[in-house]
Amino acid sequence: MATAADAMVARVSDRPGPHPRAMPLIRRYREDDWPALGPILHETFAAGDTYAFDPATSLAEIHRAWIELPAATFVACTPEGRVVGTYYIKANQPGLGSHVCNCGYVVAPDVQGRGIASALCEHSQVEAITLGFRAMQFNLVVSTNQRAIRLWQRLGFAIVGRLPNAFRHRSLGFVDALVMYKVLAS
Ligand SMILES: CC(C)(COP(=O)(O)OP(=O)(O)OC[C@H]1O[C@@H](n2cnc3c(N)ncnc32)[C@H](O)[C@@H]1OP(=O)(O)O)[C@@H](O)C(=O)NCCC(=O)NCCS
Repeated sequence: MATAADAMVARVSDRPGPHPRAMPLIRRYREDDWPALGPILHETFAAGDTYAFDPATSLAEIHRAWIELPAATFVACTPEGRVVGTYYIKANQPGLGSHVCNCGYVVAPDVQGRGIASALCEHSQVEAITLGFRAMQFNLVVSTNQRAIRLWQRLGFAIVGRLPNAFRHRSLGFVDALVMYKVLAS
């Protein structure tokens, strides 16, 4: 059955623009996605420039953090079925902070710049509301990750805080990190 999130993906993907947009199918993660998804995440974290995972984090630890602990994990696939992107969604805090969710997004390097993260983030906002969340918070957006910052701002996230030297960038050393926030339902 088509969900509201499916409709949202169609709307995002059909948006006219100067370049043909990727038309990712976004669906729930299945365990047989791991052989394709694991290496994309592993390579991203090993670079040490966007997520706080130790660059030496094992595939098993990544599986636990990205698949087992979150409330849900989704993947983006090409029309041919290749897994090219992902997001997780989970409560950012327990108890009285649990109405605010946190998400993480990764897109395979060879298909970046085609709107896949945009589609994933819009999908996650619809999913968040379905799951009962009222806002979304990104806790550690690396200040040198300009593509991500521009993207989240374009999708309505505000920079609400700057954490001096909070991220130990693998090649640049200590750099600031941003807290970004979007109210989804009032
Ligand atoms: C950050 C990340 C998720 C963005 O993914 P992406 O799929 O490349 O993002 P999008 O394509 O939706 O948008 C990125 C840019 O491409 C542009 N774009 C989108 N579709 C395009 C197309 N068809 N042709 C050219 N450019 C396009 C967007 O307008 C955006 O432009 P901008 O950088 O000037 O704002 C990805 O680079 C990534 O996985 N990085 C490593 C992990 C990471 O940083 N995660 C986020 C942590 S906060």
